[in-house]
Amino acid sequence: KLFSIPLLPADYETYGALKTVRRLSQMKSLYADQEAADRLLENGDPVIYEVYELPHPNDETDLLVNITVLYPGYVGDEPYMTKGHFHREPDTAEAVIGLSGEGELLVQNREGELRSLKVAAGRISYAGGGWAHRVVNTGSENLVFFAVSGANIVHDYETAAELNFKKRQ
Ligand code: 6PG
Ligand code: NI
Repeated sequence: KLFSIPLLPADYETYGALKTVRRLSQMKSLYADQEAADRLLENGDPVIYEVYELPHPNDETDLLVNITVLYPGYVGDEPYMTKGHFHREPDTAEAVIGLSGEGELLVQNREGELRSLKVAAGRISYAGGGWAHRVVNTGSENLVFFAVSGANIVHDYETAAELNFKKRQ
């Protein structure tokens, strides 16, 4: 597999990227303020983020290469965020490279220890294996970031949802 594409700005779908749209209704339970989420859903179902997965084989020798556009906004006083997950089989590390906007990479391990790393244009943040990761848009513009990890991972959203990055700080 070979490819070379612009990182930003780019219509990633023209390069064969698979687009996934995440709306509030698909991740409502992850937000702290359920009443605020219900109020938002009465007026529609806002798009929280879009993920563009670049085409790749799922072999252990390949890389999973994604670009996420995380919109600015709040559910109550909590900024828009990604669902967050662990990687398993194998539990590989992930590098997150900020392309535009600003936010934080929340990471939490299976013991519940929580850390926050900065995400910003031109900055790389690295979460080793064993750290569930979620990105939060703390700014007022789109937060666009590039993420790369092993191609043969399975995303584990359930364990991360149980921990749910509880003590955001
Ligand atoms: C990955 C990255 C990243 C992530 C998206 C959406 O494993 O590919 O962590 O690209 O998938 O930012 O976040 P969620 O997968 O948690 O919804
Ligand atoms: Ni990941």
